[in-house]
Amino acid sequence: MVHTKFCDVFGVDHPIVQGGMQWVGRAELVSAVANAGGLGFLTALTQPTPEALADEIARCRELTDRPFGVNLTILPSINPPPYAEYRDVVIDAGVPVVETAGANPAEHLPAFRAAGVKVLHKCTSVRHAVKAQELGVDGVSIDGFECAGHPGEDDIGGLVLIPATADRVSVPIVASGGFADARGLVAALALGADGINMGTRFLATHEAPVHDNVKRRLVDATELDTELIFRPLRNTARVASNAVSKEVVRILDEGGEFADVRELVAGVRGREVLRTGDLDDGIWTAGTVQGLIHDVPTVADLIERIVTEADALVRDRLTPALPCPQFR
Ligand SMILES: Cc1cc2nc3c(=O)[nH]c(=O)nc-3n(C[C@H](O)[C@H](O)[C@H](O)COP(=O)(O)O)c2cc1C
Repeated sequence: MVHTKFCDVFGVDHPIVQGGMQWVGRAELVSAVANAGGLGFLTALTQPTPEALADEIARCRELTDRPFGVNLTILPSINPPPYAEYRDVVIDAGVPVVETAGANPAEHLPAFRAAGVKVLHKCTSVRHAVKAQELGVDGVSIDGFECAGHPGEDDIGGLVLIPATADRVSVPIVASGGFADARGLVAALALGADGINMGTRFLATHEAPVHDNVKRRLVDATELDTELIFRPLRNTARVASNAVSKEVVRILDEGGEFADVRELVAGVRGREVLRTGDLDDGIWTAGTVQGLIHDVPTVADLIERIVTEADALVRDRLTPALPCPQFR
């Protein structure tokens, strides 16, 4: 069974992470990942208030006695949410690990460290991974250009980004973006990572709290079915291809400004897509890994399949291809 230093540092059986997902990272999914031996993250900002996050953490604890974490996505905003209050809820609840993302987590690290909360920082470039390690995080998650959500502006795919990070960073590395199966896990380990993070793949699981139309769409879609919105604004996001995302790309490519698309990209519209299954109602997040998703398993079956097939892949494909000298 695959076991890496990530498992030891973060206290889980399998080096498989379910990253924060707005509107999706709720107790049903996160507890299922924890019960299957992976590391799941509740998404703090899915909860409308810090108090609601405390309730969601308690609800998750009723569904699992295994460790799980909370994702704190820090985004530039005119009216920022009360990040410090969400952070303090995580600490007061005794959650053992946070996934920080979106911006430099420095402001929050002293409080997390003082409370013994492990920090896995998710970023999209080698320089940010190096910086995060310098700041004292316990692990870095590195999102390649393939990923759902915000891939940054460097456009470096995982095949280069992961080993380039491994060359510079000594804390556990989680490879993210484009992972769905055992082939990805084994490849990530070969590239120097200590585990994988998946978003889109977990969105197409039985326990993901989204409408079945969304899951079916992920099964039917190919790797071509995403759009990169906000490119001209240098705040790129990879989202599912639909009438709204194509319209946003068109408006901004023709010189439009954020104000011209504000209505189309409203977060509540994206939330409604996931709730009602009306796939053309707004912007919703998905990655190129859709092309590797062919079913909607339970989380337990998915994780079991990945770790079992990883063993078989090494035994049946890699070992015969790279035989030890004494067997040649
Ligand atoms: C529906 C959805 C919502 C997401 N929301 C967030 C978020 O709020 N914060 C965050 O850090 N990452 C978010 N992500 C990114 C994932 O945590 C993860 O980094 C990404 O999905 C990895 O790429 P993959 O989809 O190819 O596995 C989201 C991804 C999806 C699919």
